[in-house]
Amino acid sequence: MARKFTQIAFTPAVKAIQDKYGSRETYARMEESGLENDTLIPHIAEFVEARDSFYMGTTNEKGWPYIQFRGGPIGFLKVLDRKTLGFADFSGNGQYLSIGNLETSDRVFLFLMDYANRRRLKIWGRAKVECDRPDLVEQLRVSGYRANVERAIVIRVEAWDWNCPQHIPLKYSEEQVAEIMAPLQSRIRELETQLESLTD
Ligand SMILES: Cc1cc2nc3c(=O)[nH]c(=O)nc-3n(C[C@H](O)[C@H](O)[C@H](O)COP(=O)(O)O)c2cc1C
Repeated sequence: MARKFTQIAFTPAVKAIQDKYGSRETYARMEESGLENDTLIPHIAEFVEARDSFYMGTTNEKGWPYIQFRGGPIGFLKVLDRKTLGFADFSGNGQYLSIGNLETSDRVFLFLMDYANRRRLKIWGRAKVECDRPDLVEQLRVSGYRANVERAIVIRVEAWDWNCPQHIPLKYSEEQVAEIMAPLQSRIRELETQLESLTD
């Protein structure tokens, strides 16, 4: 068994640098040990579907990398099956950098952040831009979310890997803050009522 992400990411140049700085032996062992991690097994699928955003990297024909932030309601990046992800591509500023890049290279890199739990996941895959699949657009649309969907983007997953939690700043979304604040707010209300009864 070999970890799939290492076959993608450990290029000869990367391996040479690992060699130079003394980490090659460790990573050579890592390449051959552990699971392949190329399917969206339940805990990975759960992590993906709990996200409200992700970053998607593409490369253009000049070799320049590009990333775009994608945001939406929780679960808008959907797990279609154990190897496939999909999301609805909302109307944007019309630059079409990502889908333009996908014309010449279907390789994508997704970076999924969970700031509240200090976790991050890397996913490598190949993307297909689906412009004539209203059925797919319907499947990927999140009802009630105000966004114009232009097309569907479907990603065939080739590998994933967890990134270590180091240096991830702790951040909460508006909804998470509301959840944390709810018991405090109700306690404040309770104490205010008590205070009022004392001053009556
Ligand atoms: C009216 C409008 C203006 C936008 N302006 C910008 C902008 O100036 N810079 C930017 O990075 N994204 C902007 N966005 C968001 C992007 O268009 C959106 O994230 C889209 O997915 C970009 O895809 P691309 O980077 O692959 O071209 C804008 C979106 C809308 C709807």
